[in-house]
Amino acid sequence: MKVTVVGAGAVGATCADNIARAALCNELVLLDIKEGIAEGKAQDMMQTAALLGFDTKIVGSTNDYTKTAGSDVVVITSGLPRKPGMTREELIGVNAGIVKGVAENILKYSPNTIIIVISNPMDTMTYLALKSTGLPKNRIIGMGGTLDSSRFKYQLSQHLGCSPADLNALVVGGHGDTTMIPLISKATWNSIPVTQFLNAAQQEKIVKDTMVGGATLTALIGTSAWYAPGAAGAALVESILRDEKKLFTCCVALEGEYGQNDICLGVPVVIGKNGWEKIIDIDLTADEKAAFEKSAAAVRSMNDVLATL
Ligand code: LAC
Repeated sequence: MKVTVVGAGAVGATCADNIARAALCNELVLLDIKEGIAEGKAQDMMQTAALLGFDTKIVGSTNDYTKTAGSDVVVITSGLPRKPGMTREELIGVNAGIVKGVAENILKYSPNTIIIVISNPMDTMTYLALKSTGLPKNRIIGMGGTLDSSRFKYQLSQHLGCSPADLNALVVGGHGDTTMIPLISKATWNSIPVTQFLNAAQQEKIVKDTMVGGATLTALIGTSAWYAPGAAGAALVESILRDEKKLFTCCVALEGEYGQNDICLGVPVVIGKNGWEKIIDIDLTADEKAAFEKSAAAVRSMNDVLATL
């Protein structure tokens, strides 16, 4: 199995590191446009192999896409990260051109690949990757909801005093501070609804803190977060390569599901060897449905910006 991670910044390198540690593939290519950075980080990671005991061969490449040929999965992290105070949406002007170029280059050497998009604004970049590659819809996956759901579990665990791994919780909709929808009504702690343990004010705070999870970290760190975004990307790669059929929220092309068309948006999907294999239709409350429609409208207007660039 072969995986390529495009973008050797903090998110891309962390994603690659997680993929290598889990020994998911025999070859892992890290590619960046900046001279030497991918080669350097690849070599640094290779120097952990003897300590961690993995056999994955990690190759760094400065923009040479021939090295990515025959990748089973490609993770795109390229583009500018957020600065404090910035929304993900403000990145569209610069990142759209970068992501389009990367997706087209990838396709030349790996026509059968599955693409995972992490670059922001993630919902629009996923839509752009779908349109610019023309790949079957099941092979284009936006990572956002996987990360947001993990952040949601973290927030819940802080209030419940429990292990995040014992929680089931989904964030659907867009991957934006105002477009994501943490479904607290459906969240459970080992099958017990979390709403049994949390009052209305606590629930509201958890939802709010989840929605601004990325912005909170950007303010603290000075740039976008990378540990959880990188781990979320690697979790999707793992479910694909091991055909685990795990359920994640991912940004995928909707054709009538959840009442939406011609848009990529976060919904629960099964991730396996064919990419996203099935959309799971869950009953949303009236409020959740309204929020989903609002989220779709916001993402759609961001997608419309693509035509003006
Ligand atoms: C975040 C970026 C990766 O939410 O979108 O941290």
